[in-house]
Amino acid sequence: MSKHNYMTVVDLKVHPNQEDFVAPNSLSLLEAAYEDQKYPFAIYKDGTVVGFLMCSYYPADDAYPVDSWWLERLMVDKAHQGKGIGREALTLFLKEFKPDEQVTELRIGADPKNEWAIKLYESFGFKKEGVVEDENVYAGKWTI
Ligand SMILES: CC(C)(COP(=O)(O)OP(=O)(O)OC[C@H]1O[C@@H](n2cnc3c(N)ncnc32)[C@H](O)[C@@H]1OP(=O)(O)O)[C@@H](O)C(=O)NCCC(=O)NCCS
Repeated sequence: MSKHNYMTVVDLKVHPNQEDFVAPNSLSLLEAAYEDQKYPFAIYKDGTVVGFLMCSYYPADDAYPVDSWWLERLMVDKAHQGKGIGREALTLFLKEFKPDEQVTELRIGADPKNEWAIKLYESFGFKKEGVVEDENVYAGKWTI
């Protein structure tokens, strides 16, 4: 991410019925600017910004009792969904992702109603670990 692409990332949108599944990119970028250990990435296809991914590190706390790396945000703009971009982005990310020595797992939260995303994560070997309440959303926790 840079000053050259962050406004384009802010303009990316999911379908209205997907808005509960992922935070707006503007909020994610604010979090990345003001909180520690959040790593935002723009997803490009043929030179065009088409999606957004952010991974984050959370030390153990009351909400989740173990130190964890999370793939906290993943979205593809509504005009570019269903063309294999999400799968390709996740493939590239998982190839490059190097967890540290202490924390070797990567977790993902997914709304139980988010069937596309859950199917996608399962196809990479992520398994459902449990369910927690997170701002009134019950999210499955996955670990690879
Ligand atoms: C989930 C998301 C990132 C997937 O990205 P994408 O580029 O649309 O997905 P892909 O085209 O790579 O398809 C990946 C899988 O999604 C599912 N999928 C995608 N489009 C689909 C469609 N039109 N109908 C049914 N399933 C679909 C399929 O299971 C597909 O698997 P396959 O590769 O075996 O065919 C994207 O749909 C999105 O941004 N959704 C809204 C935000 C969101 O839910 N983010 C995840 C938060 S946990």
